Order: sequence, then C-alpha cells, then structure tokens
Amino acid sequence: MNVKGLIAAGGEATRLGELTRVVNKHLLPVGGWPMIYYPLQLLQLAGVHDVLIVTGQGHAGQLIDLLGDGRMPRRGSEEPLFDLDLTYKVQVEAGGIAQVVGMAETFVGADKLVVCLGDNIFEYAEVAAIRAFVEGDDGAAVFVKDVPDPERFGVVVYGDEGRVTDVVEKAGVVDMRYDAPPSSDAVVGLYCYDDGVFDLIRDLRPSSRGELEITDVNRHYAERGTLAAHRVTGWWEDAGTQESLPEIGALIARTGVNKVA
Ligand code: DAU
Repeated sequence: MNVKGLIAAGGEATRLGELTRVVNKHLLPVGGWPMIYYPLQLLQLAGVHDVLIVTGQGHAGQLIDLLGDGRMPRRGSEEPLFDLDLTYKVQVEAGGIAQVVGMAETFVGADKLVVCLGDNIFEYAEVAAIRAFVEGDDGAAVFVKDVPDPERFGVVVYGDEGRVTDVVEKAGVVDMRYDAPPSSDAVVGLYCYDDGVFDLIRDLRPSSRGELEITDVNRHYAERGTLAAHRVTGWWEDAGTQESLPEIGALIARTGVNKVA
C-alpha cells in the first residue's frame, strides 16, 4: 500500500504572542531546529516520502524558502537531512485541522495518509505503529498520551472491551456534551487514515469554535469500530506556548527526539 504524508502548518498561533506576528509558528526554533523539522523527520523515518505541507497565506513563501523541494543536506555538509518530495498548499483561513486534511484529497488519491500537526514533537517516532497501519486493514489510527491537563486536548473514551467508543474535543469548551474530560488520554497530533476520510470530511459541520474538527472525524471511525488507539512511547509535547519552546528544547537535548525503538 502506498502512503502520503500531511503536515498541518497553518493556524493563527495567537498564543505565541509577539513571536508569530511575521514568522510562521512552525519555523520558530525548538532545540537546534526549526519546529517543522521534527514532524518532517518523523514522517521520513516512518517511510513516508511524499508530503503535503498546508500553511496559511503569507507563510508559504517562508516555508518554501526553508524547505524547497524537500531534498536538503545538513547545513555545511553533504550528509542528507531530508530526502522528501514536498508539495505545498495554502489554507486561506484557519478553518480547522479536518479542513486541512480535506485539502489533501487529490494529493492522496486512493493511498493511505499519515497526518502530523506541525507543532507536535515526539520522543519516539512511532515508526512501527505507522508502518503497521500502512500495511494493515482500512480504518484509522490515533495515538494517545495520559496527561495531567486533558481539558486542553481531544480525549478518547473507552468502551467495555477497551475499544475507543467516543472522542471528545476540549470538554466543556468545544464539546458541550461533557462538562469535564471523560478521560485523561489525550489524542496527540499524529493520525493515520484510509481514503474514506475524505467522504467523512465533506459531511462535517463546523464546531462551536467555528472549525472543522479532526476529533469529529475520529469519532466517526470510533462509532464504526474502526479507530485504533496506540499509546505514545516516551514524551510528547505540543509547542503551543512561549514557555514550551525552551522547555521542549531542553527535553530534546536530554533524551533525544524522534527515536526509533
Ligand atoms: O496537540 C494535540 C491537539 O491538537 C489535539 O488533542 C486536539 O484534539 C486537536 O484539536 C488539536 O488541538 P488544538 O486546538 O490545540 O490545535 P491548534 O489550533 O493548536 O492547531 C494544531 C496545529 O494544526 C498547529 O500546528 C496549526 C495547525 N492548524 C490548525 C488549525 C486550526 C492548521 O494548519 N490549520 C488550522 O485551521
């Protein structure tokens, strides 16, 4: 089975304040690299070669300046850093992560799709689980991590047999069915889909925050019993705030990043 990759690198990034007036959030430094190198490296390690980057209007130029066609050596050396085939698309308004996925339809065709949020960074690249999905049956797969602050994320709900039966986005803020998160297993920004995802997205309606929610996509798969959930190995961070950038940099220096188990 062939596979394509998608990196969501749009959005407003207002929580980063003055840092993102001009610079795209995904170009900010984390450790020794611009943020977007980490999801790109994760996809490369998982064997995903063709990657679509979706970003906001006004930012595509910066990303192309940095990444070009996706074939680049480490700076000052001949050693390859990325050997990818990159395509770019512009999301004119931040209409949600599911909107970004919908934009990949013609790029993906009948292949499978691995989606990374451009601000999510992982200690382990989850290579085995991604490859197993690509080689396996149709459906979708998400990755979860037990967190102390589940109200900030989408979380999964498990049924009696341990299967995911529901997915809830920011309980009490976006998803009003719950006042508080029904579990502390956050859905992280790494998702795998079959090509049926595009039909689902066409029928989505915007959420209470006006976005097409990736959580609503995942709930459809959960309701059909075709959503697998893998627990993330090691740490996972979402580089959404100013304080998180140096903290994640320190974590990377201490443990390494995108490790292959
Ligand atoms: O980090 C994991 C969380 O990401 C999940 O637990 C949530 O279920 C999921 O909805 C998402 O939550 P956030 O509300 O924190 O997502 P945020 O708006 O920060 O966007 C995440 C990334 O996606 C960010 O790198 C920018 C990109 N993005 C976002 C939007 C809304 C786009 O490219 N386009 C968009 O329209």
